[in-house]
Amino acid sequence: MKRVAILISGGGSNMVTLVDSMQGDHPARPCLVLSNVADAGGLDKARARGVDTAVVDHRPFGKDREAFEAALNEVLDAARPDIICLAGFMRVLTEGFTRKWAGRMLNIHPSLLPKYKGLNTHARAIGAGDAEAGCSVHEVTSELDGGPVLGQARVPIRAGDTPEALAARVLKFEHQLYPAVLRRFAAGDRTPVMLP
Ligand code: GRF
Repeated sequence: MKRVAILISGGGSNMVTLVDSMQGDHPARPCLVLSNVADAGGLDKARARGVDTAVVDHRPFGKDREAFEAALNEVLDAARPDIICLAGFMRVLTEGFTRKWAGRMLNIHPSLLPKYKGLNTHARAIGAGDAEAGCSVHEVTSELDGGPVLGQARVPIRAGDTPEALAARVLKFEHQLYPAVLRRFAAGDRTPVMLP
């Protein structure tokens, strides 16, 4: 049974769908939900599901990313995860951290990678006049929002779409995509999941 740690910074809606998916004959179970934000809404949702939680606040470390990540790793090593899922985790990770967890760490990004790495993805897709947007689950490497794509969901952009409306539609597909990719990944299957 694979152990999965999930890193969050906010509401944790993706974390909730991942935790709720790991039941029955699923080859993985959640072992920890870790947030860099002490009052992240997702922490209560994790506790309500009986999942261990931890907080490592990044602020005391200031610009010392390595020191923050050393504190993250201390908590993570104690939880012995086989897989780490970044789910709305809003800290950029150094090469040292991504190398330590290489091949075992996933992230969900709200765009059709390799398009629109970074922030404000939906506004950028709308502004570019794209016909569709979406989300991607990828292995985390030292390149921000780079790494091999393990799944994508495509969502049509509608006339008059605001970034918020589009984000809400894409989020529903994130909640389908991430659990589907994690289930395959935990079984050692890297066949990409393509939705719809
Ligand atoms: C989602 O849009 C996800 O794509 C991005 O963070 C946002 C919030 O996710 N990574 P969650 O509700 O905290 O899971």
